[in-house]
Amino acid sequence: MTDALVRTVDPRFRPAGRTYPQIWSSLLARGGIGKTAFTTSMTVTLALRGYQITVWDLDQQCNASSGLGWGPQEIGSRPTILDFILGDASYEEVRVQARYKLAQGVDHEGNEFVEWMDIPNLYLMPATEFLTNADTLLTQTEHAHRYSWFKDFLRDEYDGDDDMFFIDNPANYGKLVGTVAMMMDEHDEVIPTCLASSKAVEGIPSLIKELSRLREQFSKSKAIPGRPTVKRIPLIGVQTGSRAEADNRKSVLEMEELYPELVKDWPYIRYSATAKTSFRDHLPLPIQAPNSPAVEDYRKLATAWGFPDLE
Ligand SMILES: Nc1ncnc2c1ncn2[C@@H]1O[C@H](COP(=O)(O)OP(=O)(O)OP(=O)(O)O)[C@@H](O)[C@H]1O
Ligand SMILES: [Mg+2]
Repeated sequence: MTDALVRTVDPRFRPAGRTYPQIWSSLLARGGIGKTAFTTSMTVTLALRGYQITVWDLDQQCNASSGLGWGPQEIGSRPTILDFILGDASYEEVRVQARYKLAQGVDHEGNEFVEWMDIPNLYLMPATEFLTNADTLLTQTEHAHRYSWFKDFLRDEYDGDDDMFFIDNPANYGKLVGTVAMMMDEHDEVIPTCLASSKAVEGIPSLIKELSRLREQFSKSKAIPGRPTVKRIPLIGVQTGSRAEADNRKSVLEMEELYPELVKDWPYIRYSATAKTSFRDHLPLPIQAPNSPAVEDYRKLATAWGFPDLE
């Protein structure tokens, strides 16, 4: 690589002089409250603004991977994040460029084709349905050396130029989730995406409790930061006007009352009917509907959170 091609990383993304990127993690142990929608929409928004991000998909449902062009069907026999966790493939071997389907059909010779378009600056550690076995596999002797895989990777192996790592979590506080969360400190962020619904609001106290538990567990550790921190909560799918559903409206008011310092000042992400189809079509919302109100809100949120357009 020539010097001209080497990317310089803004020191803000190497907080406290550390050698690995700032980590953001979409986490709340409730299903269907927008973790993945937020992960894909926000990372695509930031990547299109020039920030280099690698999304780590820890969920065996592989929704973030599918949304970024690498669902189980596209992955085929390529290595996945599980191979990385077990030490059978390197970061470089597993990491792929995020992409989306530009066209699909049958050509004039009758062959099926799919045309992909890369999403600049955005990369992915793709998930697999076999992630459910990760904890069990790590207890086996041949994988014993990988017990602290995330810590070892960050501290001893990583030498890349990502600005940020963005984690998409499954809806639980299991071992896999904890192994990653324990490496976060107050320079990183746990982001409990909150789809305006009572289900999400009710999940927040147990998240706060779980994070305190991790903090307590690692309070004396020198090797493990163990300080995953919530600094802000994005409210998404917010309905406006007189036709807003009662639960949606009530959830927003409750969040403003219960966590004013975490939701205040940030633009809300408005409800988007397209968000549902973009999920089904495996297209990130900013690609499918770049001019929709929700995507406009993601851009506003990116600006409000200190990510101006670098392009
Ligand atoms: N701005 C929005 N407006 C309306 N609906 C939205 C919006 N953003 C996301 N949604 C919808 O919320 C639903 C749940 O989203 P998502 O799959 O991201 O949740 P999740 O927390 O990742 O779920 P799981 O725990 O199963 O992984 C999806 O159907 C999605 O389309
Ligand atoms: Mg999800």
